[in-house]
Amino acid sequence: MKKIEAIIRPFKLDEVKEALMEEGIRGLTISEVRGYGRQKGHTETYRGSEYRIEFIPKIKIEVVVEDGKSEKVVDAILRTAKTGQVGDGKIFIYDVKDVIRIRTEESGQDAL
Ligand SMILES: Nc1ncnc2c1ncn2[C@@H]1O[C@H](COP(=O)(O)OP(=O)(O)OP(=O)(O)O)[C@@H](O)[C@H]1O
Ligand SMILES: [Mg+2]
Repeated sequence: MKKIEAIIRPFKLDEVKEALMEEGIRGLTISEVRGYGRQKGHTETYRGSEYRIEFIPKIKIEVVVEDGKSEKVVDAILRTAKTGQVGDGKIFIYDVKDVIRIRTEESGQDAL
């Protein structure tokens, strides 16, 4: 299984969520986060050569899927989250060792 963690622009959430639902994902976690990338949230100089780092609000999406679905899930995020401007976000992909549904104690893919 893979965990796909995507940092996206908040206004893209609905569109990304719809696309993920069409891929048949079974669960999804989102959080409101703040961060910065290469532009440090800011492109202007501040006090001469110093740059002030701004934390920009983003949404973090976390979804765990079976291996065979991960490529399509990544494609769906790329397709819907992209504007082509700096700050579109990033996708991190992790291997997931196990998942356990607390209620039934099922584990592995059955627990997704
Ligand atoms: N290396 C990183 N580690 C953790 N979070 C990151 C990293 N890079 C980006 N992020 C998160 O993703 C958000 C969006 O990053 P952003 O799209 O600006 O990345 P970038 O590398 O600067 O690409 P671009 O040049 O397209 O802006 C950041 O606000 C931050 O929350
Ligand atoms: Mg950036």
